[in-house]
Amino acid sequence: MTQTTHRSHWSNRWTFMLATAGSAVGLGNIWKFPFMTGVNGGSAFVLVFLACIALVGIPLMMCEIMLGRRAQRNPVDGMLALAREAGASALWKWVGVVGLFAGLLILAFYSVIAGWVLDYVVRAASGSFKGVDAAMAQSQFNTFLATPLELVLWHSLFMVMTMSVVARGVNAGLEQANKILMPALFAILLVLLGYSMAVGNFAAAVRFMFTPDFSKITPGAVLSALGHAFFSLSLGMGAVMVYGSYLQRHVSIVRTTFYVAIAETAVGLLVGLAIFSLVFAYDLEPGAGPGLIFQTLPIAFGQMPAGNFFATLFFLLVAFAAWTSAISLVEPAIAWLTENTKLTRKQAAWLIGVTDWILGIAVALSFSVWKDVKLFFGLNIFDTLDKLTTNILLPLGGLLMALFAGWVMKTPHVQDELGLAGAPYRLWRFTIRFISPIAILMIFMYLLGLV
Ligand code: PHE
Repeated sequence: MTQTTHRSHWSNRWTFMLATAGSAVGLGNIWKFPFMTGVNGGSAFVLVFLACIALVGIPLMMCEIMLGRRAQRNPVDGMLALAREAGASALWKWVGVVGLFAGLLILAFYSVIAGWVLDYVVRAASGSFKGVDAAMAQSQFNTFLATPLELVLWHSLFMVMTMSVVARGVNAGLEQANKILMPALFAILLVLLGYSMAVGNFAAAVRFMFTPDFSKITPGAVLSALGHAFFSLSLGMGAVMVYGSYLQRHVSIVRTTFYVAIAETAVGLLVGLAIFSLVFAYDLEPGAGPGLIFQTLPIAFGQMPAGNFFATLFFLLVAFAAWTSAISLVEPAIAWLTENTKLTRKQAAWLIGVTDWILGIAVALSFSVWKDVKLFFGLNIFDTLDKLTTNILLPLGGLLMALFAGWVMKTPHVQDELGLAGAPYRLWRFTIRFISPIAILMIFMYLLGLV
């Protein structure tokens, strides 16, 4: 398929991989994965999550990159162009439209949580974890959540950080940021892992995360593992699709997907091991929920040798990871605006940035003054956005993309783009036609209370 406008492309395969891994590795790995593992009983959740990555995540990531590269356009016009090429309905463009809005909705709360992380970088650096106990860590966190002005200020800073990268474009912005931040993130992670192996209870962490105990696998854990596989791999909303649209033709989609998925999963597992080593060494509660890293790690860091330094490194790692994910959350919208209006990238970044910033303020307030404002199903603003996107919009987007690639697109086009033939192709197609859609439909039935 030919491209309509002159578009930027990644400089090479390596920068695409870094950027896609940068999108995938984020708050999902460092904030969500550990607490969900803790809440869902450890190894059972981890093993099911790994199976979901292998069976649904990896085939769908190949699918999404493939759609993007073939279309060479933003996800909305891209889906439209692909549908035309396949002689299918123009309605498929709605997959792109919904994904674009899902990205903006996710960024609104993502930016607020990334703001907490920035605040914790400063707290760690200024030594405020020294000697805190569980009650103090909890009350520090709750007091912070109840101070809307601080939440809004940190959220504003994170939004400015995100948009200033996005405004600079694919090569000077996205690519450069990932080239610097991702290696820094890996380096910090290795230092932290070494440190928590030395001072923490590494053996207990390995046992907790990997000893298979299939009696603990519940339908709820299976379904939350599947939903989390989507969020964690950034699938279902067009971020990976738009990144794929900047990928040159000669790069192997299959191979790059494996590298990205392995890097993303490895980071998740290593962060989990580092965190649970500390949690067990200091007798903290693994099932503490969303506050896990904010309420328990300060206690552990506060008691350790050179704890301030390592705490600062840890929260910096989380901030970097969130930053490289946030830029991918807005890219579909930015690409759509620059390819359909006269706005420059910079103007588009301003427009989206200000709009999302306002939405984010509502999220920030939902932890204090607007706590009782309920939107859907009695959920507050933060929970509504989180649940609506993670549990509904991303799996729905993934389902439609899988159906489109598996049943609507012409086989030669798919094969040409993926560079797959014979048995490997048939295996991929079987997964994308049957396994992924059925798995996703199961989530929906569970949510609707049908199973
Ligand atoms: N994958 C990111 C994380 O784990 C979140 C994300 C979801 C980013 C969807 C882009 C698209 O934090």
